[in-house]
Amino acid sequence: MFGADLAVKWIHVSSACLLLGSLALMLAVPALGSGDSNPITELVMSRAKTIVHGSLGVLLLTGAYNFWRVLTNNTLAHSSVYQDVLGVKMVLFLIILGLAIVALKRAAGSAATPRARRLLPWMVFLTLLVVLLSTYLNLERIHLLVQDAETSAVTAPAGTG
Ligand code: HEM
Repeated sequence: MFGADLAVKWIHVSSACLLLGSLALMLAVPALGSGDSNPITELVMSRAKTIVHGSLGVLLLTGAYNFWRVLTNNTLAHSSVYQDVLGVKMVLFLIILGLAIVALKRAAGSAATPRARRLLPWMVFLTLLVVLLSTYLNLERIHLLVQDAETSAVTAPAGTG
């Protein structure tokens, strides 16, 4: 299982990097060209849009695997703090997904519309917030597992540990 966990987590974190990178590119690109009709701007915007949609899809799939691994872990499945933070992360993910659909659909001509430009910084902010919550989840998981191991060591009958 360790190999699968490592591979899925690597894909999950790499997709998060690609998502943030593409969103940052979409924010920066309109400033690069001489206007929205610039063909290079349009090409970069349309490719960045594909990467944003693709990385959100991969994050959903790999996140579902991570979630399943959490549910099948006795310690994590019974920690309300861990579950609550994971719940907030999922709600934020759904908001980002909604914004990606609305903002980038409106940017149908590849170049960002004024509305998309207004929504893009929010998507970057919410994605950074999701990364913060994910880092918290990781530290909280390690903390809970260490605590669990310590409790088992203390309560184990002499000679069994
Ligand atoms: C914008 C979308 C997302 C981003 C940017 C994101 C980012 C991350 C990152 C950076 C980590 C690694 C944290 C670390 O090891 O320090 C992580 C772990 C994780 N993610 Fe996501 N994620 C996203 C979506 C999702 C979704 C949709 C789910 C659930 C369906 C999910 C479930 C998880 C779980 C359970 C972990 C493991 C946390 C732990 O180590 O205990 N993620 N995520």
